Amino acid sequence: MRALLLENIHPEATRLLTERGIEVENRKGALDEAELIEAVRDVQLLGIRSKTHVTRAALEAAPDLIGVGAFCIGTNQIDLGAAAERGTAVFNAPFSNTRSVVELVIAEIIAMARHLTDKNALMHAGVWDKSAKGAHEVRGRTLGIVGYGNIGSQLSVVAEALGMRVLFYDVADKLALGNARRCDSLDELLREAETVTLHVDGRAGNAGLFGAEEFAKMRPRSLFLNLCRGIVVDHEALREHLVSGHIAGAALDVFADEPKTAGDPFVSSLQGLPNVILTPHVGGSTEEAQEDIGRFVAGKLGDYARAGTTTMSVNLPQVQASDGPERCRVLHVHHNVPGVLATVNGVLADFGVNIESQTLSTRADLGYVVTDIGGPFTDALLDKLASLPETVRLRLIG
Ligand SMILES: NC(=O)c1ccc[n+]([C@@H]2O[C@H](COP(=O)([O-])OP(=O)(O)OC[C@H]3O[C@@H](n4cnc5c(N)ncnc54)[C@H](O)[C@@H]3O)[C@@H](O)[C@H]2O)c1
Repeated sequence: MRALLLENIHPEATRLLTERGIEVENRKGALDEAELIEAVRDVQLLGIRSKTHVTRAALEAAPDLIGVGAFCIGTNQIDLGAAAERGTAVFNAPFSNTRSVVELVIAEIIAMARHLTDKNALMHAGVWDKSAKGAHEVRGRTLGIVGYGNIGSQLSVVAEALGMRVLFYDVADKLALGNARRCDSLDELLREAETVTLHVDGRAGNAGLFGAEEFAKMRPRSLFLNLCRGIVVDHEALREHLVSGHIAGAALDVFADEPKTAGDPFVSSLQGLPNVILTPHVGGSTEEAQEDIGRFVAGKLGDYARAGTTTMSVNLPQVQASDGPERCRVLHVHHNVPGVLATVNGVLADFGVNIESQTLSTRADLGYVVTDIGGPFTDALLDKLASLPETVRLRLIG
C-alpha cells in the first residue's frame, strides 16, 4: 500500500504509517488539480492540509484511493460527496489544534489592548513611547465569541479565567460553559461586546458573514479578531472602520486569497495600519498541534487501511472494526437499499463461506459492512460481490 503526503505534514504521520507497513512519499507544497491528478493515480492513501483541493476530477483519476486524510480541521477543500460516492473515506483532526488557536487569540487580545505591536515597532525604531494612553487590562472586558464550537467554547473557558465576561452567539444550540451567556442574535452580541472574535466553520452561507453592516453595529473603539476563515470577513469594510478609528484594533490570521507556499508574496489592504496584527494562518500551527494532527490522522488512515475502521470518518458510515482479521475480512461499501445485506450474505453463502463476525453501519444513502469470514475465498466470489449493482467499493484484508 502507498501513501502520498503533501504540504509538509508532520513526520509523526510518516513514522506511524511506515510502522503499519505502508510505503510513504512526502512532498513539501500543495498541488493544483492537474498536478494532483497525475500524483494520485496509483496511491491508496492521500494526506493533505488546507491548500490542496481534492476535486471530483482528482478522485476520478484515483481508482485505488481508499482514504484521504485532511491533516487539519476543515474538510471544505475535499469534495466529500464525490469521495463518498466512490467509497473513499475522509478523515480529519477536529480537536488537535484547538488549544493552539485559543492561546493565540488570548495573546492577541492582550497585545491589542496594550498596543504591543506598535510599541514594539517604535522601540525597534529607537523611540521610547512610555504612556498608558489607550492601554487597557482585559479583566472585566466583554468578549463576544461568534461560533461556540471546539475553539469558541474552549476560548470561553480560558477568557473567563482571565476575568473577562463572555458572550457568545451560535446558530446551533450550545451549552454555555462557566458563566458565559448565550446571545439570541449576532446583533445582540455586537451591541454588548467590546472585543468580537469569529470562530465559525466554513459552510457556504458564512461567506461574507461579517461586512460593513456588522462592523457598523460594533461598539466604538472595540477590537476585532478573525482566526477562522478568510471568506467570512470583508477586509475593505474592516479597513474603513479601522481608519476611521471606530474599530481600535484587529487581528487577522486567515485571508480569502492566501499564498500557496511559505515565502510567496502576501498583499492585503490591511497592511500598514496601526494596532493591526496580521499572521500567516498560524493559529493552529504549533509544534504540539502539528505533531498531534500527524499522529491522529495517520492513525485513522492506518486503522482504515489495516482493519477497515472508519470511526470519525467525515463522509462514510462509521464502523469500529477489531484490530485485524484472524483470517480474511471483506470490506463492502454499498448503496443503502433494502435487502442489500441479505444479498451480500447470500453471495457468501452461495460460495460456501462462513461468516465469523459482521458489523454494519449506514449513513444517509451509503452502507458499510465489515465481515470476517473463515474462507475459502476465491476470485469468483470477489468478482460476484464486486459486480453487485449495490456495490460502491469492495476491499479485502488478510
Ligand atoms: N487559524 C487557524 O489556524 C485555524 C485553526 C483551526 C481551526 N480554524 C478554523 O476555526 C473555525 C472553528 O473551528 P472549530 O473546531 O471550533 O469548529 P466547530 O465546527 O467545532 O465550530 C464551529 C461553530 O460555529 C457555529 N457556526 C457556524 N456558522 C455560524 C454562524 N453563521 N453564526 C454563528 N455560529 C455559527 C457552528 O454551529 C459551530 O458551533 C473553523 O472555521 C476552522 O477551520 C482555524
